[in-house]
Formats: sequence, C-alpha cells, structure tokens
Amino acid sequence: MGVRVAGRQETNRIRVVVAGATGWAGSALVTGIVEAADMELTGAISRSLAGRQLGEVLGFIDPAVEISGTTKQALASRPDVFVEYTDPSVARQNILEALDAGAHVVVGTSGLTDEDYDSIDRSAQEKRLGVLACGNFSITAVLMMKFSEMAAKWVKSWEVMDYASAGKVDAPSGTARELANRLAKVGLPDIRVAVEDTRGEKEARGASFGGTQVHSIRLPGFVLSIESLFGAEDERLSIRHDAGTSAKPYVAGGLLAIRQVSRLVGVHRGLDTVMDLN
Ligand SMILES: NC(=O)c1ccc[n+]([C@@H]2O[C@H](COP(=O)([O-])OP(=O)(O)OC[C@H]3O[C@@H](n4cnc5c(N)ncnc54)[C@H](OP(=O)(O)O)[C@@H]3O)[C@@H](O)[C@H]2O)c1
Repeated sequence: MGVRVAGRQETNRIRVVVAGATGWAGSALVTGIVEAADMELTGAISRSLAGRQLGEVLGFIDPAVEISGTTKQALASRPDVFVEYTDPSVARQNILEALDAGAHVVVGTSGLTDEDYDSIDRSAQEKRLGVLACGNFSITAVLMMKFSEMAAKWVKSWEVMDYASAGKVDAPSGTARELANRLAKVGLPDIRVAVEDTRGEKEARGASFGGTQVHSIRLPGFVLSIESLFGAEDERLSIRHDAGTSAKPYVAGGLLAIRQVSRLVGVHRGLDTVMDLN
C-alpha cells in the first residue's frame, strides 16, 4: 500500500481520504490518522470549507492537506482507503465513486439501506475491493453487540431500546439496525402477543427489524445509548452501552478498520469482522 503515486516519495503508509473530515466524528478520526505512524492523510472533503487547509481548520500544524469540495477532487490523491463519514443522502454515491477510483472503503455513515449495500457489494466484488461498514466504531459498543448475540442463544425473548439526542434525524440508529440484524441471524424472538394482535396503538410496540422490536427515543440529554433487554421467567438481563459526548470512542475502531479493510473483498458489516473475539 501507499506506493501508487508517481513522483511522490514511496512509503508503506496507508494513504487515506476522509469524506466529512470536518464533522464531529470525521475530525476526531483525522486527528487519529495524522498521529498514526502507519497512515498518511492525502485528502479531506467538506463542502463548506473547501479550499481551506485542514490543519488550520482543526488546529494541528501538519500535514498540509487542502480540503476538497467534491469526492472526485479528493480521489485525485489516489488513496488506498476512502472513509465515508458524511450523510446518508450522499454516502452511496461517494462509496461507488471511491470504488471506481480503486480505493477500499470504510463506512461510518449511518442510514444506508440493505439495497444500498447490495449495489455497493456488487461493485466491490467486481473490483475485488473491500468495504467495511460499521454502524459503530466504538470497541465497547461492538462488545455489547457480541454479548447480546451470545445472550440470544440462551434467552429467547428480547427487544431493543435505541436512545439518541433530540436532533438525530435517522431512526433507528445505525447501531440499533446492526444489532437487530445480528440478533435476526441468531433467531426470531418469542413474542407472546403478536404485534398485529395488539389492542390500541400497534406503533407503541416499536418497529420490527428482522423480527426484533426496536424502540427509538430521541430526547435532549442523550448522546447515543443502546440497550438489549432479554426477558425470561421471573428474571431479566439488560446489556447496555452508553457513549459520552466526545467522538473519541470511535477513533480506535476507525483506525483498526482502515488498517484491516484491504484484507476484505466485498461488503462486510461490523467492526468485529476484523476483531478476534473467539
Ligand atoms: N459508525 C460510527 O461509529 C459513527 C460515529 C459517529 C457518527 N456516525 C455517523 O457518521 C455520520 C456523520 O456524523 P457527524 O456527527 O460527524 O456529522 P456532522 O458533524 O454533521 O459532520 C458531517 C460532515 O460531513 C460533511 N457533509 C455533510 N453533508 C454532506 C454532503 N451532502 N456532501 C458532502 N459532505 C457532507 C460535513 O461538511 P460540509 O457540511 O461542509 O460538507 C461534515 O464534514 C452520520 O451518519 C452519523 O450517524 C457514525
């Protein structure tokens, strides 16, 4: 990796472009990339700050990376890995453009649909490139999901609570969607009264994702929390993860994904794909 650009000093560092580099999550990740000895930030994308120096905007001295206003412009730096951290309305197009440019892709943006990932997978398979999509880069959140999958093998009734700030526009969160997908692979939960047989408002029972009822709460005071609730006769198990207000929990997992994505071909979902959890 890192040897593709003619006329530049050859290096073994992983060349990375980050779309959404000035955002809450993206700016924390680019700081981690700049500090990582095995990575080189070659491009950054933000529409509103295009033309400015990223270091000046984020308050670090090096490297001198000019912010691009478009994905095409940033991909001219020929990255090994493209990180998508913007908005679901543009994420799919950005990812397909990055694959066309020969980059592996790490996806942090939440809200892409299964259909989006099907078309991305077709493109990635055709080009023999990896796409690692992580609804949550926090290593402790990934552990929460893994523990929930283990619990679902033994406790047959469960539902998911998805808490986020009042301003979060997508529901459920990428983390809740990913958790429900994972639980669906373990099995269908036992629901004693089917949702369609509910008396009163069926919507009060939440939305079903792969058979799991997911309840999204959007209120001031929350950042991002996820909780799986397991019920058995006369006992309950809750497995919960609470994120704080900074984007620091997502940096180590984002860097791990950047380091590992080139080993993959096609779309892979979840950071644990590249974590040894057995
Ligand atoms: N996987 C995880 O662990 C994780 C963690 C945190 C957040 N997220 C997800 O990551 C995404 C970004 O979250 P955030 O909190 O960082 O958002 P944010 O603070 O609003 O930042 C968004 C970034 O993307 C850019 N952007 C926004 N819309 C764009 C568009 N249409 N085209 C190109 N660039 C665009 C913004 O710059 P300009 O407006 O200047 O273009 C900014 O740099 C969300 O989907 C969020 O749910 C995932």
